[in-house]
Amino acid sequence: MKYSTTTITLAESRTDCLIANLKQCQQVARQHGAARFFETSTSDFDDKIGQTHLVNLGPSSPIKKMLVIGGLGASVTREDFSKAVKATATGLKSVKAKSALWALTGTRVKAEDVYWKASASLSALSNVLYSFNQHRQPGKNGDISLNTVALHADARTRGSVARAVRHGQGAKAGLDWARDLANQPPNVCNPSYLLKEARKLGRNPKVTVTSLDEKKMGELGMGAFMAVTRGSENPGRMIIVRYRGARNSSDAPVVLVGKGITFDTGGINLKSSGGMQDMKYDMCGAANVLGVTRAAVDARLAINLVTIVAAAENMPSGRATRPGDIVETLSGKTVEILNTDAEGRLVLCDALAYAARFKPKVLIDVATLTGAAIMALGAHASAVYANDDTLANALLEAGEASGDRGWRMPLWDEYQVGLKSQFADVSNIGKGGAGSIVAACFLGRFTEGQKWAHLDVAGTAFPGGPQNGATGRPLGMLFRFLIDQAEA
Ligand code: BES
Ligand code: MN
Ligand code: ZN
Repeated sequence: MKYSTTTITLAESRTDCLIANLKQCQQVARQHGAARFFETSTSDFDDKIGQTHLVNLGPSSPIKKMLVIGGLGASVTREDFSKAVKATATGLKSVKAKSALWALTGTRVKAEDVYWKASASLSALSNVLYSFNQHRQPGKNGDISLNTVALHADARTRGSVARAVRHGQGAKAGLDWARDLANQPPNVCNPSYLLKEARKLGRNPKVTVTSLDEKKMGELGMGAFMAVTRGSENPGRMIIVRYRGARNSSDAPVVLVGKGITFDTGGINLKSSGGMQDMKYDMCGAANVLGVTRAAVDARLAINLVTIVAAAENMPSGRATRPGDIVETLSGKTVEILNTDAEGRLVLCDALAYAARFKPKVLIDVATLTGAAIMALGAHASAVYANDDTLANALLEAGEASGDRGWRMPLWDEYQVGLKSQFADVSNIGKGGAGSIVAACFLGRFTEGQKWAHLDVAGTAFPGGPQNGATGRPLGMLFRFLIDQAEA
């Protein structure tokens, strides 16, 4: 999908599909001498938020079709605008059109600027216009025909719209890639596959991609990571992507860490079989930090970024870790592994300790870490943990602005108590409920001295069930956060 900006007047433009509010469509129809036809074909249209209506002006018209966005009067709230553009994007999916022109000028959004409006529209499009058909026979999958969308701007708004297009184009590339990685079946997407994919980022001269293999990780002392990967025939990898986009290459980087369990069987604490296939999505944290890295690189954000992916497969086998095993982590702390299904925090604790060597400005990890996060917040908000209020607020605000929301959770000392181990420095499971919080507290023991945030995205990264694939979340929130950091 190619996004662009145009300032040509709507009346003069040529497109397969004009997208605009009722009034604008009416006006353009009149200018094309199709006022009567437009009136009759929209006479039953309910001009409300969430409604859209397709008007076919015919193949010989310079504007072949019009998709009318319902409910967009002169001024609307941002919630209504978001709903309207989501409905519009969904409507557009089934319209046969190669090009579209989206008019942004007809509606003001209260307390938001043109950049926001353009970004919200592009983000709705990007989210909806995605499909994953790599493993079907080609042809009959209702592939999306649309390939260019121009946003209409005027002389005054052109700069803001162009900026939204640059960001939106990067976000789309990152989002599609992240969702593809996550939707791949687990016999394709293993740690080596993630490395092979991540290496593609290295085509940009500002990016370098390196990795640690199991031998190296063993030597470094990543005993927790090794405990997870040892049961699998597919070797684990720590993948490190460095993007040097800031004007000053020595600026402290934002460091992102992603949980990349390419399949989580639970290990010796084997999961029950119902729904186990969804555990291919246990690498969504990795996919989405890689995706946001791609977005930042493509949008040429002026920021230094280090992205670390802890990629492993959690399998039961004769070599697998046993409940009760004690391992020494990179940090020097020992962990008693009382449940091999609490593996995400094990690969992450070594990745987070490793991250310290990049001297992060802030350190943020993303993980489908606990079923408890789904219990707490469902699919509507990512659980946000942070040991720094400024960082927490910046992430929450980025979530609001992008429509990819988070909700802050506590890291109180009281929750740490359950992690006490009888035989080691810390246990990998807690007691007394609050599973998402306790898991976050575990990670917090490996990020002392860092400005650190943890996003538990078990509920938001994939909704579960047979119909829905990966969402790419929290890519929207993180990308907004990175843009804000780059432009601060
Ligand atoms: N990957 C799972 C968490 C998960 C479950 C994500 C369902 C998305 C959907 C994680 O590794 C896990 O198994 N967590 C356990 C932790 C428990 C053993 C302390 C959980 O949440 O039950
Ligand atoms: Mn698990
Ligand atoms: Zn897991």
